[in-house]
Amino acid sequence: MHDPLVVRAWSQVAADYDAEWGPRFAPFLADALAAFAPGPGPLLVPGCGPGEEVARLAERFEGRRILASDPAEPMLARARARLAGLERVELSLAAADEVPPLADAGGVFSSFTLQLLPERAAALRAWRAALGPAGRIAVVFWPRQREEDAWGHLGRAIEGATGKPRPDWEVPLRAQLPELGLRLAEARDLQHEVAYPSPEAAWRLLRDACSLQVLLARMGPAATRACEERWLADHGLRERAGQWVHRPCARLWLLEALGEGVA
Ligand SMILES: C[S@@+](CC[C@H](N)C(=O)[O-])C[C@H]1O[C@@H](n2cnc3c(N)ncnc32)[C@H](O)[C@@H]1O
Repeated sequence: MHDPLVVRAWSQVAADYDAEWGPRFAPFLADALAAFAPGPGPLLVPGCGPGEEVARLAERFEGRRILASDPAEPMLARARARLAGLERVELSLAAADEVPPLADAGGVFSSFTLQLLPERAAALRAWRAALGPAGRIAVVFWPRQREEDAWGHLGRAIEGATGKPRPDWEVPLRAQLPELGLRLAEARDLQHEVAYPSPEAAWRLLRDACSLQVLLARMGPAATRACEERWLADHGLRERAGQWVHRPCARLWLLEALGEGVA
């Protein structure tokens, strides 16, 4: 699936994503990487963006073949530059469910992409199919945020501006895991502080360098302005020592393949 709107939005985001979100998301990524225990075999990294997690995986799993992909070429260009000279890393332009035809992968590592996918079950099914018998999947994603968190406030501003509720996808997907041949070995909440110079700067980052690009492009300019006004009037960030902070919660799923015929 290469939705042109999605590809265009993430291509624009590529310029600032690394510099802006890289440091803010680094503690979440470090937790997820530390928990990832793949079996032997190549590693898959769908939705790799500019490739920070690919670089960290290449360091930790020395000598391991890593196949990473993203649907936005400017993201891949950054990943190529970051990983230049590492021949065991292969980068390709692909959607999350277009995985290489493997059946012996040691693991799949997916960072901050699951929540964006239109067909999450299809992606998990494809990742499961690529795993070898000892394969493991680590998926870290942004779930629906707590009401009191700044991103919970943002969710309400979006719903208020569009007049449309945003249904929860996580609970139904979790219930579907056995059908997809997967067992949830562990679900962990990862919480860290994220800081911005001001609420306005936070809004600009969310609008220009993050997944809001896609949502706002779909909502159109009037609803985008309404959302901005609503959120800036009630953003939920706290001021501390000249910074504006919140503690969003990421979720980490550690998944194992169910045996043949168990699903
Ligand atoms: C929030 S960024 C995460 C990038 C990187 N994994 C990280 O953690 O820094 C989300 C990435 O998912 C990609 N993406 C968006 N829709 C996708 C899809 N349908 N399949 C695969 N990747 C997608 C975007 O191009 C973007 O690079």
